[in-house]
Amino acid sequence: MMRLLLTSILCLPTAWAIWPLPSTYTHGNTTLWIDPSIKITYNGAGQVLESSPVGTQPDPHSSHYLQKLLNTYHSSWSGNNSATHQVISNAIQRTHDTLFGKLFVPWKFHPRFSDFEPDCNNKLFVKSISLQQNATDPADILKPALGGVSEAYTLTVTESGDVTITSSSSIGLSYGLTTFTQLFFEHTDGGAYTSLAPVSITDAPKFAWRGLNVDTSRTFKPMIDLYRTVDALAYSKFNRLHWHITDSQSWPLEIPSMPELADKGAYVGFQKYSPEDVRALQEYGSLLGVQVVMEIDQPGHTSSIAFSHPELIAAFEVLPNWDTYAAEPPSGTLKLNSTAVYEFLEKLFDDLLPRLKPLTQYFHLGGDEVNLNAYNLDDTVGSNSTKILQPLMQKFMDRNMAQIVAANFTPLVWEEMLLTWNLTLPSQTLINSWQSDENVAAIASKGYRVIAGNYNYWYLDCGQGQWLDFRPGASSAQYWPYPDYCSPRHNWRVMYSYDPLSGVPANATQFVVGGEAHIWSEQTDAVNLDQMVWPRACAAGEVLWSGAKDEYGQNRSQITASPRLSEMRERLVARGVRAEPIQMPFCTMNGTQCAL
Ligand SMILES: *[C@@H]1O[C@H](CO)[C@@H](O)[C@H](O)[C@H]1NC(C)=O
Ligand SMILES: *[C@@H]1O[C@H](CO)[C@@H](O)[C@H](O)[C@H]1NC(C)=O
Ligand SMILES: *[C@@H]1O[C@H](CO)[C@@H](O)[C@H](O)[C@H]1NC(C)=O
Ligand SMILES: *[C@@H]1O[C@H](CO)[C@@H](O)[C@H](O)[C@H]1NC(C)=O
Ligand SMILES: *[C@@H]1O[C@H](CO)[C@@H](O)[C@H](O)[C@H]1NC(C)=O
Ligand SMILES: *[C@@H]1O[C@H](CO)[C@@H](O)[C@H](O)[C@H]1NC(C)=O
Ligand SMILES: *[C@@H]1O[C@H](CO)[C@@H](O)[C@H](O)[C@H]1NC(C)=O
Ligand SMILES: *[C@@H]1O[C@H](CO)[C@@H](O)[C@H](O)[C@H]1NC(C)=O
Ligand SMILES: *[C@@H]1O[C@H](CO)[C@@H](O)[C@H](O)[C@H]1NC(C)=O
Repeated sequence: MMRLLLTSILCLPTAWAIWPLPSTYTHGNTTLWIDPSIKITYNGAGQVLESSPVGTQPDPHSSHYLQKLLNTYHSSWSGNNSATHQVISNAIQRTHDTLFGKLFVPWKFHPRFSDFEPDCNNKLFVKSISLQQNATDPADILKPALGGVSEAYTLTVTESGDVTITSSSSIGLSYGLTTFTQLFFEHTDGGAYTSLAPVSITDAPKFAWRGLNVDTSRTFKPMIDLYRTVDALAYSKFNRLHWHITDSQSWPLEIPSMPELADKGAYVGFQKYSPEDVRALQEYGSLLGVQVVMEIDQPGHTSSIAFSHPELIAAFEVLPNWDTYAAEPPSGTLKLNSTAVYEFLEKLFDDLLPRLKPLTQYFHLGGDEVNLNAYNLDDTVGSNSTKILQPLMQKFMDRNMAQIVAANFTPLVWEEMLLTWNLTLPSQTLINSWQSDENVAAIASKGYRVIAGNYNYWYLDCGQGQWLDFRPGASSAQYWPYPDYCSPRHNWRVMYSYDPLSGVPANATQFVVGGEAHIWSEQTDAVNLDQMVWPRACAAGEVLWSGAKDEYGQNRSQITASPRLSEMRERLVARGVRAEPIQMPFCTMNGTQCAL
């Protein structure tokens, strides 16, 4: 009987793209189909959830997408709105959406005109999906601290179609369901199947902080694009969205107690984030295990405050030699020795922090690329000497830290505050490193927790070419072919070759808590966001989840990663993410031919 149900596939798929790669993974070759009527049970028969029928999903392009989404989830429970149930309910709904609306026919991964699809006769179906959570979620499951929630899970699919996912947390179960959907393909004649049963997976992340930093100041990103980014992050098992929401070029963040900031600092009236937008993105992310961590960069990268509060900013819009005073136009920095600035920051954070608090533990205080010369023009200082500036910077940061810590946030800062300015920082501060492997090692060796992300590997914006124009008279020939500061573009192979632990002494590796890829946005707006981020960020995602080394301690193989990443790309495209291809079908159809 079982024999009859085995498929007659001649060529198994060349890729089995669970991305990122699980810790252990074995599979067979039996085909199982899955029907939309499948029921997913959570912790036994007492709590049966039925996925809503296809066709009733909220329209992601609707402006009330999130509200409808939340209503859908809430209404599918009889009365229990606990965070755990919201996470589980959300995960089940999305699993259903993916399996019955967001798969793809994998023709690109088989020789042309081959008979790669399973027979549609005598279908054997998945019979049950059982989610088993063997511990109670921590109270802060929607905003877990580092290491505060286990993300580990196991997934088994028996040959006869019984599926079991176990985890000690709801988020772990959600990851298990994500992995489960990546076993399935769409059939040309309709229906969803996997040809990999039986399956046995155990999985857990290598690093606890797995983030993407998105800049919404250089260019604005509408909410729908941020939701889609969070969706793609969760689908790649990232767990942090670092929201670099303000910078020198624009201030899109509405602060109700100081409406003038965004009214004058946004690029245009409609490019603002309201408190409700911020909260909605936090909620959307939290239910998926993606905590939104906001950064207000300062004291540099703040010129946009001058559009509403010119008295707070030194060296604003110096022209033409802005480059003496800043890394990018417009120049300008918060004054360093000013009670008015202190009062402004206190008011800003008093407004913002309580609103962020319900859904995050973290707040990022910035601190990168502070320009010394700008303080020559600062009427509260009038010097660029680090001897004079360093104690003022310490005082400035101490005030910030006191407020952040009193509000019960764990602070983040860019690495310059520690390594360039030699500041004394609270020991729990997370240090966001970007300049080099040596800096990651130096921070870890000092005993500070560090988030890695060397710009030579993990800056997604590099290699687009120079966005600055050349002044009349400037010898543009000398700049040809106009590379940007971090050219060339870091392709997925470069990103995949980065090890956050590279050069870190063995006795300090525990301080490297994870990493972030970064999409600075001088040349990335809503139109090309997806192509700039996906699927390259997945390469960072796999390093962070699975580790840079394989089970033999060797660097992970690009040769086996390549077809898997191509498949993950198709899965992202099927979700509505305009991820770019990494190879042409000629290569993915026969993985042996495109080798050098
Ligand atoms: C499926 O796997 C079994 C056991 O490994 C093997 O004997 C069989 O040939 C495989 N079938 C196909 C169609 O590849
Ligand atoms: C809701 O679910 C949570 C998690 O399973 C449980 O701890 C809690 O007792 C439930 N509450 C109600 C009112 O059923
Ligand atoms: C709970 O599930 C996790 C993930 O499957 C597993 O690692 C752990 O051992 C389980 N704990 C118990 C007490 O069964
Ligand atoms: C900082 O400001 C105070 C108060 O205005 C002033 O007394 C002090 O000299 C300033 N410090 C420096 C280094 O300029
Ligand atoms: C500090 O400012 C002086 C005066 O403008 C300038 O000559 C010098 O180059 C500056 N030092 C640095 C390190 O930029
Ligand atoms: C920080 O310490 C280093 C090494 O002692 C020193 O070179 C540098 O000038 C210091 N930075 C500041 C801003 O004081
Ligand atoms: C492994 O990757 C590291 C970078 O993380 C690189 O320095 C090293 O040369 C690689 N080793 C091999 C054997 O390719
Ligand atoms: C690691 O070991 C070195 C050399 O023994 C020592 O100097 C350093 O303090 C240790 N670092 C940590 C974080 O324990
Ligand atoms: C892939 O290409 C090689 C070289 O042309 C060929 O020998 C092999 O049969 C092809 N494999 C498939 C599965 O088409």
